[in-house]
Amino acid sequence: MPGYKLAIDGPAGSGKSTISALIAKRMGWTHIDTGAMYRAVTLQAIELGIDLNEESAYRFLESSKIHYDFDKIYINDRDVTEAIRSESVTNHVSLVSSFPYVRKKLVDLQKHAAEYGNIVMDGRDIGTVVLPHANLKVFLTANVEERAKRRYKENLKKGKVTQIEKVIEDISTRDQKDSTRKESPLKMADDAIILDTTHLTIDQVVNKIIELTGQKEKEHGV
Ligand code: CDP
Repeated sequence: MPGYKLAIDGPAGSGKSTISALIAKRMGWTHIDTGAMYRAVTLQAIELGIDLNEESAYRFLESSKIHYDFDKIYINDRDVTEAIRSESVTNHVSLVSSFPYVRKKLVDLQKHAAEYGNIVMDGRDIGTVVLPHANLKVFLTANVEERAKRRYKENLKKGKVTQIEKVIEDISTRDQKDSTRKESPLKMADDAIILDTTHLTIDQVVNKIIELTGQKEKEHGV
């Protein structure tokens, strides 16, 4: 696997996707948001009206094409970047991602996508399953109140008013489901570096991780 591979894992709202996107931009690397892929499968399953509890119903994946291009995600060439952030997708994604068949399909895609080049990939099982030989593994955490506050502000920016208590509840439920599932649960890799971001700004986290990679950042504007 030529190139630098950076694996970033962590629970809901720990800032993985934002941080990973910024690192990719500054380093000139490719960012792969694996959560977006699980969300895309969930969206498609909901739209097809399949029984979400039935693993064999996900066979539709045999003939669907999910791909990633410059932080936009497509299902069968339809841009679903916005649609995958809906409440209904968020509420069902933990269930969908618990099926071994779905995981196998997406993990294969992710491994393939990371084969060449410098990659920063974020998710729940990147350091443990997808890129076990990554050059650097970071596990981002933050206390649940802080994570809920971030999600709350993100929603507000999109014009969505939510109740902070409800966001805390949703995040805690998803954490619980993701950490206790049988197949590839959210778990820190033994060789990962843990970074508690509760009291850190986004820039501080980005700088810290770039420092940890030991790689030189690309000059801005070049
Ligand atoms: O909302 P947040 O950005 O924290 O979540 P996400 O990264 O978009 O991931 C959505 C869901 O996909 C997670 O709650 C997991 O259930 C699932 N997921 C997974 O199982 N494995 C991954 N590598 C990434 C996401």
